[in-house]
Amino acid sequence: MSAESGPEPPEDLYQRLDHILFDKVEVLRRIAEMGREIEADYKGKPLTMVTILQGGMLFMADLIREVHLPMKIDSLSVSSYGSGTTSSGTVTFHQDRMPHLDGRHILILDDILDSGRTLRAIMDRFAKEGNPLSMKVAVLLSKKVERAADVTADYYGFEVGNEFVVGYGLDYDGEYRNLPVIGVLKPEFIH
Ligand code: IMP
Ligand code: MG
Repeated sequence: MSAESGPEPPEDLYQRLDHILFDKVEVLRRIAEMGREIEADYKGKPLTMVTILQGGMLFMADLIREVHLPMKIDSLSVSSYGSGTTSSGTVTFHQDRMPHLDGRHILILDDILDSGRTLRAIMDRFAKEGNPLSMKVAVLLSKKVERAADVTADYYGFEVGNEFVVGYGLDYDGEYRNLPVIGVLKPEFIH
């Protein structure tokens, strides 16, 4: 990019990180490992992966290309966080249409499992509205905190401590999702 138009956005975003937890290579390597595991578990089964928007979209895009099985994909739009860094506790569904669940093994994908409220609300709703053959959870990150709701990550990429992380789908106030790494923001960029 030319000097007049300033630095590339990713470069600018990197400046806002205090430190990087997982770089792009590590993330993709780990997702490939998860893919092998999921492939072995779902071989011969009618699989649908349902990602939670917006955070889970990058994870899904990379994971499905590492699972070499016939599958369907779907998505669900919910919000639980508002604009801060702590959970609002209530989960809002932004769409009435539910994924097709009957007769399918459902693997729900999200960027991170924190309190567990979001995934619990989704699983409860799926159980009420359809008859999936099974329901499991795969998240890129599992936060090491006491869960407020009963959810276990059947598959997870990495564990993180109780801190707010951004990048690779994870946002702060709607931004940073396009950062190709996962990291922790400098305090001056949290308002
Ligand atoms: P839970 O309902 O508390 O498990 O929160 C899950 C949702 O909160 C995730 O889908 C994320 O969108 C968001 N979230 C939780 N922790 C973080 C974080 O550290 N950074 C960014 N988003 C987070
Ligand atoms: Mg989010």
